[in-house]
Amino acid sequence: MTLYSRIAGTGSCLPPRRLSNADLVAELAAKGVETSDEWIVERTGIRARHFADAGVFSSDLGAEAARQALDAAGIAASDLDLIIVATSTPDMVFPSTACILQNKIGANGCAAFDVQAVCSGFVYALTVADAMIRTGAARNALVVGAEVFSRILDFSDRTTCVLFGDGAGAVVLQASATPGILASDLHADGRHVDILCVPGHVNGGAVMGDPLLRMDGQAVFKLAVGVLEDAARATLAKAGKTDADIDWLIPHQANIRIMQSTAKKLKLPADKLVVTVDQHGNTSAASIPLALDHLVRSGRTQAGQLAMLEGVGGGFTWGAVLLVL
Ligand code: UT7
Repeated sequence: MTLYSRIAGTGSCLPPRRLSNADLVAELAAKGVETSDEWIVERTGIRARHFADAGVFSSDLGAEAARQALDAAGIAASDLDLIIVATSTPDMVFPSTACILQNKIGANGCAAFDVQAVCSGFVYALTVADAMIRTGAARNALVVGAEVFSRILDFSDRTTCVLFGDGAGAVVLQASATPGILASDLHADGRHVDILCVPGHVNGGAVMGDPLLRMDGQAVFKLAVGVLEDAARATLAKAGKTDADIDWLIPHQANIRIMQSTAKKLKLPADKLVVTVDQHGNTSAASIPLALDHLVRSGRTQAGQLAMLEGVGGGFTWGAVLLVL
């Protein structure tokens, strides 16, 4: 019998401190950094983001999202045999945020590791979990995207600090006799390491180089609009599906203009595009599972519908996963 993996439950977590564009513009103005609600909304579609308080880590946000996903799936943390956390803002250099999260939810004993693919991290992690379930290496996997990007922002750089937020999303992926994940398509092109990176590193007890996020926004924008269409088409082809079969497009939530351009290329109407970037900003690896959880909890989905998840970001990395809800 062919074994598939299927999403059995979703969850998410946003830290309570919410900053509207007006709040952030006022905070930045006090530091002599000039920006405006109009610029942010027009160029990105972002209206608000959430920032974690000091002392709150990716594992805390991820653990809360995980508890909700476990509840929704109707299983206990002790039933998990695999945890994968996608993050670029880990709690520590090591051990993995997955191990820290595992302890916080009380799932000790199962395999746990992080995946680092920046904003594509969740589609990478989901693809790895799917492969492990289909080979029989795991039956109940927890896949989490969790970030505290506010920790790595340069609040004197208006070209980046208005774009990102903190949060987490999680899914329980279970072995199933009926198809859930139908196909996926992952890529990376390391020639573009420099267009989106945090170039610093730790050496001899000190941070060497620049420890803050740097992005050539236009270069990322141009690459993103091309690869997102390619990844969606490659994934549809692998699954024997077409554009018209997509019920929900859940792209990485970085910029509404990139998301709308992808939807247009796939000939999808606006109501099939899932949008949370307006309220969350760009939460990197957390953005797709956050958007998925908000969609599922909105009551707008029906069992059997097809969702196309698409990530793109630093590395340069990109990829897509097509799944049955
Ligand atoms: O998560 C991984 C994926 N990341 C992305 O997908 C991000 C992709 N890139 C983007 O979303 C866009 O490139 C940005 C939103 C980052 C920038 O939008 P843009 O339309 O490419 O703007 P730009 O960089 O061309 O800047 C236009 C102008 C510049 O001024 P001049 O040179 O025309 O006078 C900037 O200095 O806007 C200025 N500007 C700002 N003005 C007010 C840049 N940031 C700001 C700001 N407020 N926050």
